[in-house]
Amino acid sequence: MVSPSPFLNLPATLAWEDDCLRILDQTRLPQSTVIETLTNAHEVWRAIHELRVRGAPAIGVAAAYGLCVAMQSSRDLPIGAFREALKERAAYLDSARPTAVNLSWSLKRMLRAADRSNASDALSLYRALVDEATSIHDEDQLLCEQIGRHGMTLIAPGSGVLTHCNAGALATTGLGTATAPIYLAQRAGIPFRVYADETRPLLQGARLTAYELQQAGVDVTLITDGMAASLIAGKQVDVVIVGADRVAANGDFANKIGTLSVAIVARHFNVPFYVACPSSTLDLQTPSGNAIVIEERRDDEVTHLGGHAIAPEGIKVRNPAFDVTPHDLVTGYITERGIINAPFDTQLAALFGATS
Ligand code: MRU
Repeated sequence: MVSPSPFLNLPATLAWEDDCLRILDQTRLPQSTVIETLTNAHEVWRAIHELRVRGAPAIGVAAAYGLCVAMQSSRDLPIGAFREALKERAAYLDSARPTAVNLSWSLKRMLRAADRSNASDALSLYRALVDEATSIHDEDQLLCEQIGRHGMTLIAPGSGVLTHCNAGALATTGLGTATAPIYLAQRAGIPFRVYADETRPLLQGARLTAYELQQAGVDVTLITDGMAASLIAGKQVDVVIVGADRVAANGDFANKIGTLSVAIVARHFNVPFYVACPSSTLDLQTPSGNAIVIEERRDDEVTHLGGHAIAPEGIKVRNPAFDVTPHDLVTGYITERGIINAPFDTQLAALFGATS
């Protein structure tokens, strides 16, 4: 599984090869590179739920191919029964994680493609689904590149960029969202440095962002989440760029837990705070961040680190995987169609109202 962008020096996040969905198991990175083949709906659901494939855009692409995998055992059914099973399995995959809208966005798009198709047998409809999933995959790579082109204008020579979690190549099937401007600025020879928050509890920043930026030769420094405020206060950070899992119509957005703290600190010290996100992450049907469902995950993700207990047995735990940052803390959205500034409700509707 070769990355679509050779200069990333990474295996691809996922691939569709010989009618099989292969994913890079992100829970094993950076120590081991393990490619897993997913062969049925349950395996796809578990891979998404357990974060072996994660990051909003990558989840969307995995779900599209995952639905094809889920339908492979039904290719001999009469077309009506195939269509019924398709709806059921899409609903099942959609239940794997609640916050990243790309999951439901992609599955709805797959169902719309099936509705549009005039295939008269199950195998032809299956082929149409594979074509749609391939389009979603190709588009994801293009969206990252476009976000990168717009966002690289924000990275001045000599500047410090802070990012949180992993909105990188591993969270997409291309250059990433928050990292796309970083990779393109690097490719353009602009000197700058990146600070990667480690991102407790699952350490996507340490395990994934630090790894992928280092692999690409980017000047990256790993910090713990609690260090970000002091770096920002000390003028080490000129711009914050993060990703998003769901953007509401008013510009509030959900992203990995800890993003809100970074946004508040950035505002306090007048550091611009940008959100890189493709249109597949916009949810203009959701009016504000209050309506975004936040995934709550298992206690042991907080009480254990690398399989070792770090807290007293029986301690009460909270583990929301995401937080919501209000739109008034956002300087701008870096989208495939350009950088959007406030007022976000009208700007998002004007640019994307017809598409999301
Ligand atoms: O729980 P995860 O690892 O799926 O969370 C990922 C994030 O929060 C990313 O910042 C977000 O999905 C943007 S990915 C381009």
